[in-house]
Amino acid sequence: MVMMILMLMMSVLLLARTDDDFCYDEDHCDPYAWGDSYPSCHPLLDSHHSPINLDHHLMKNHSLDSLQLHGFNLTHKGQWWLTNQGHSVVLEVGDGMQVSGGGLPATYRTFQLHFHWGSVSSNGSEHTLDHLRFPMEMHIVNIKSTHPNLTSALEDPTGIAVLGVFVDVTYLHNENFQSISSALSYVAYKGQTKSIKPFPLVNLLPQNNLTQYYRYHGSLTTPPCSEVVLWTIYEVPVYISWAQFEQFVSGIYSTEEEAEIQALLHDNYRHIHPTYSRPVYASKDAKLLTNGVSSLACFNSVSVIVYLLLKI
Ligand SMILES: *[C@@H]1O[C@H](CO)[C@@H](O)[C@H](O)[C@H]1NC(C)=O
Ligand SMILES: *[C@@H]1O[C@H](CO)[C@@H](O)[C@H](O)[C@H]1NC(C)=O
Ligand SMILES: *[C@@H]1O[C@H](CO)[C@@H](O)[C@H](O)[C@H]1NC(C)=O
Ligand SMILES: *[C@@H]1O[C@H](CO)[C@@H](O)[C@H](O)[C@H]1NC(C)=O
Ligand SMILES: *[C@@H]1O[C@H](CO)[C@@H](O)[C@H](O)[C@H]1NC(C)=O
Ligand SMILES: [Zn+2]
Repeated sequence: MVMMILMLMMSVLLLARTDDDFCYDEDHCDPYAWGDSYPSCHPLLDSHHSPINLDHHLMKNHSLDSLQLHGFNLTHKGQWWLTNQGHSVVLEVGDGMQVSGGGLPATYRTFQLHFHWGSVSSNGSEHTLDHLRFPMEMHIVNIKSTHPNLTSALEDPTGIAVLGVFVDVTYLHNENFQSISSALSYVAYKGQTKSIKPFPLVNLLPQNNLTQYYRYHGSLTTPPCSEVVLWTIYEVPVYISWAQFEQFVSGIYSTEEEAEIQALLHDNYRHIHPTYSRPVYASKDAKLLTNGVSSLACFNSVSVIVYLLLKI
């Protein structure tokens, strides 16, 4: 146990010192090699790693209703900071937002959000929905309020709550992503930071479908891969335009501006991990992967056929 804590502390220190000794695109540091530098990234049997595929094996849990998103609908004072960290673009939000309810065992304070994406020709969400990978996934990271810092939260099995949102691409510009979109070109290279005027964070969520989500216990999807995360994955995606999507896949580099060889940051997602015997719950109002919807879809295609027959 002491050994494990020591190892964990070492990996956290390592992460703090050179947060670039993991990557997504080279054999020696890609997600399959993370375990070499970060022992807790080795997916041992019966472990609780993330991401996972969400499919029909989930269980409906009627006690999972809406989460309380305190302060998400307010425009906070001060500044937020968007930073290219080399493996993602991270928006550090200030104080004033907390997440609770919806089956979470405590109140969690919101501290940052970041994105995972594919490339011009590949989807890059971390979780998959019935094996469908979305173009992007956003993670809103929250720390249990009783912990003074991330280090201590990483030692608590339910120390972190992440809200995951699938991002899909359409032809319509999403005005709610404008603050982020207009700052992205300032953080093209690793280490660059740009301030952003705070905006109501709820704007980035699937606002009409917040009661529809999946819940399971898993891990961070980046080193040190700590198995301390209560995941809430919203089942309905948000949409951004192709141009907004392209800013991520064609405009963000994993390298510094001075680097001799520039490398685009792309496909920054971890591979799918087995669920093993973990319960994966669907919230009270979740629809997509529950039988209700498949029978409805079935009913719909029957009525389309009947309609076509009648027309003929
Ligand atoms: C913001 O949400 C809280 C509940 O979380 C609600 O009580 C309040 O009325 C909302 N405020 C606005 C301006 O919508
Ligand atoms: C439903 O979810 C709650 C909160 O996560 C959990 O405590 C409870 O055991 C779950 N209920 C069932 C029937 O699994
Ligand atoms: C990629 O995402 C699009 C939706 O934008 C979807 O239609 C397509 O099936 C996805 N591809 C894969 C391989 O999951
Ligand atoms: C984090 O909090 C723990 C527990 O209170 C404390 O011992 C530790 O020094 C803090 N670490 C940092 C880096 O602030
Ligand atoms: C989202 O919520 C709206 C309003 O409750 C509902 O009509 C719609 O079917 C939901 N979308 C999905 C994909 O479940
Ligand atoms: Zn993430």
